[in-house]
Amino acid sequence: MRQYRTNGGPMAHGESGSGPKDPLVLLHAFPLNRRMWVPQVRALNGDRRVIAPDYPGFGRSPRPCAQPDVRLYAEGVREFLDSLHLERVALGGLSMGGYVAFACLRLFPERISALVLANTRPDPDPEEARETRRELARRVTEEGVEILPDLQMERLLSKRTIREKPEVVEDVRGMILESSPDGVVAALGAMRERPDSTDLLGEIEVPTLVVGGEEDAISSPEVMEAMAGKIPDSRYVTLPNAGHLSNLEAPEKFNAALAGFLARV
Ligand code: MLT
Repeated sequence: MRQYRTNGGPMAHGESGSGPKDPLVLLHAFPLNRRMWVPQVRALNGDRRVIAPDYPGFGRSPRPCAQPDVRLYAEGVREFLDSLHLERVALGGLSMGGYVAFACLRLFPERISALVLANTRPDPDPEEARETRRELARRVTEEGVEILPDLQMERLLSKRTIREKPEVVEDVRGMILESSPDGVVAALGAMRERPDSTDLLGEIEVPTLVVGGEEDAISSPEVMEAMAGKIPDSRYVTLPNAGHLSNLEAPEKFNAALAGFLARV
């Protein structure tokens, strides 16, 4: 694991593989970290460099000085790419990673050669969700990140995964507990204030894979399909027996969809 300085401080990352094609950079969900991409890094590193950073305050990246603005995460990603001398990449993001990917598309579309939008949505938070995030930020400040696994698990994983895959539940719990309170509070604010990206969809000029889980209650199949329908060169895949963290809940099918897509970009 290496660290590079970004606007928000050094950004840790994990990576594996090499190859002639543009590297794949994978942006993680909230409140997890780069480790959520381990099944994809392992499956796809045969002919391509695969890189997964930690946002400031998550995983091994130091806490942020960031204001709650998703654009700062995208600036961090841009600086991270500069540090690695990566001119163009295939960019993927799951959930909050998708929100950050939209902000990256606004800031540096010329450096993105292909896009993967997993379990994410283009619209901003409705007021009720904004209030829930404010309350959660208040509680994390007062009580710490230890409250998060119980509050988040049923949002993130399908009932079947929780019942039948205890190792996934434990892995997710471990990642959540590696997050810093400052990182969580900043990310909650950034998600709460994120702009509407619906108008951006029609302007996406690169091949795009939209992949979701049939049992995802946060980014439902309806939302995902409608989003894919607005992106000119997109392919939409929905995975059975998967909730919000579809890459961890159905890794083989997720990897197959990703590998099939990456083979043509
Ligand atoms: C995530 O998985 O990144 C978050 O649950 C997304 C959200 O809360 O909107």
